[in-house]
Amino acid sequence: MRFSDDFLNRVRDANNIVDIISQHTELKRTGRSLMGLCPFPNHREKTPSFSVSEDKQVYHCFGCKKSGTVVTFLEEMRGMNFREAIEYLAERASIAIPKEEQSSRSEDQRDHKKLLLRLNKFAGAFFAKTLNDLPPHHAVREYMQKRGITPELAEEFKIGYAPSEWSQLANLLAAKKAPLGEADKLGLIRKRSEGDGYFDLFRDRLMFPILSPSQDIIGFGGRIFGEGQPKYLNSPESPVFHKGYTLYGLHTSAKFIRAQDEVIVVEGYMDLIALYSHGFKNVVATLGTALTPNHAKLIARFTKNVIVLFDGDNAGQSAAERSLPILLAEGLMPRGLTLKDKMDPDDAVQKLGHAEFQILLQDAGDLFLEQLKKSLKGYKGQPSEKIQIFEKMAAVLVMIKDIKLREVYSRALAEQLAVDEKWIKLSMNDFMKKQALQQARYHSPHANFEAESVAAITEEKRPKITLKNPKKDELLLLNLMLSSQNLLETVLNSGIIQNLGQSELSEIFEIAQELYRQDQNNFAKLTVLLSDKLEDPGLITQHLHKDFAEQIEVGGERLVKDCMEKIKNRDLRLQSKRLTQEMKLEQDPSKLEQFMNIQREKHSIK
Ligand code: UTP
Ligand code: MN
Repeated sequence: MRFSDDFLNRVRDANNIVDIISQHTELKRTGRSLMGLCPFPNHREKTPSFSVSEDKQVYHCFGCKKSGTVVTFLEEMRGMNFREAIEYLAERASIAIPKEEQSSRSEDQRDHKKLLLRLNKFAGAFFAKTLNDLPPHHAVREYMQKRGITPELAEEFKIGYAPSEWSQLANLLAAKKAPLGEADKLGLIRKRSEGDGYFDLFRDRLMFPILSPSQDIIGFGGRIFGEGQPKYLNSPESPVFHKGYTLYGLHTSAKFIRAQDEVIVVEGYMDLIALYSHGFKNVVATLGTALTPNHAKLIARFTKNVIVLFDGDNAGQSAAERSLPILLAEGLMPRGLTLKDKMDPDDAVQKLGHAEFQILLQDAGDLFLEQLKKSLKGYKGQPSEKIQIFEKMAAVLVMIKDIKLREVYSRALAEQLAVDEKWIKLSMNDFMKKQALQQARYHSPHANFEAESVAAITEEKRPKITLKNPKKDELLLLNLMLSSQNLLETVLNSGIIQNLGQSELSEIFEIAQELYRQDQNNFAKLTVLLSDKLEDPGLITQHLHKDFAEQIEVGGERLVKDCMEKIKNRDLRLQSKRLTQEMKLEQDPSKLEQFMNIQREKHSIK
């Protein structure tokens, strides 16, 4: 489901990019724009080179060259997708999402979700306060210290403590007249089987809230304090929490994953927090479930490069094995690491420290080749073994979308089994036919999930335009016309757009022309509207640079003229070349006339 342009415009108009970005970096006004330290984690700077234009509603960093709109900012910084960002902005500005633009859910369902999120928020605040109120040397505090959870980390991950009494939360909720039945569905409290009233489900546990990209608490994991079963109690599936679609930690690690273009996947809450606190912040946790195709889709929003870091025990290793085809099917490039001595990532990073752990990560091998190596253990080269290993690895190979990657792996497999590559290919074809049925089942949507969450995650990225080898003068001209309305008028009135070559860039000129012709007031919005359509908006926000502004102040008209001349000349050259060729084929007097006209035009430019 697509939002209408009208709705998108209203949402954009109602939100100021400055407010959103100010939550991440302090902005100070200098001239026409605001400047601050670049908030993106891969760009650490001491003097501000990050600028936000309030008129244009775009940002641009002159240091790391990142630029974009409020939507791309939410995508990059908070890990939202397009729909989530728009819904977040609409919510923020109290704009109701028109009925026809809502994903399948009804208004009632939306209100219900809001109510559930409020209840979780209340519970989260209660757990955090309970932890905060514990006396300095309380055993829970000492346990946290022992496990390396500093007060700062506790704050960052909103960690709390559920008291050991049976009904503190239930009583508080009842006193607030909260809908207890709903809190029951969230797994926070449960109705007593005898008598009336409710009791708390999370008791004497360290509480790890699970946050969505919009920072709502969608569920909890609670670790028993001391011994007891289950070790971790997790919120049940609910309209706001779907385990198979959720990666713990992503709400804070998204920006680091993007910045480093790599993600480390671990299994547990504590694994994630330990890695994070040792400086490996590009990490997410699957929460003890098997990695699902939807987890892989979620990861694919941020990076292709995955390091699977599951526990060194058998369960962890088989989980890593099962994740391989799932990751490959989403076009991801998984590497993997088996930790020694059955350590989990938490143990390992505590024991090794940052530097040694870093080396370990760098050495993580390709997960497919690692799996192949493992299945070759004890292999003696017998034909039956070959078939067995082949079938096992072929099941993985067929999942790979990237043909080149599949070939590399097939070759490795052929080498290891000492068989002909052709044999692998032929057998693969056979195998694929057999698998076709099963694959169809594998890819079919999971009917038991709410259609809406499926849409939220699988929604294809809105196709964006990539400018391939844009001509310098054309790009400059575009930046010039975006920088001032006068220059824009000059460009549009000249008709130069007709002379642009067929390219993605000329498409952008056309869109700009169209938007401006529709409504001249659109001028202020042109940069932001076009930026949202581009894969690399940095190309058209160059004009926001201070130096650029100074240049056009004095010589804007001149620059525009120069660019247009070059463009025109190039086009005329091309036209005359084409005509010359055509004239060679047929004697057509009108062609000759055209040719002469072009020559004259060329002269007049000179
Ligand atoms: P582990 O049993 O490996 O625990 O479970 P851990 O993460 O090392 O925990 P610590 O270090 O003893 O505190 C890994 C993950 O599996 C899920 C949790 O998400 C846990 O983090 N799990 C485990 C459960 O959901 N329930 C359980 O009872 C146990
Ligand atoms: Mn552990």
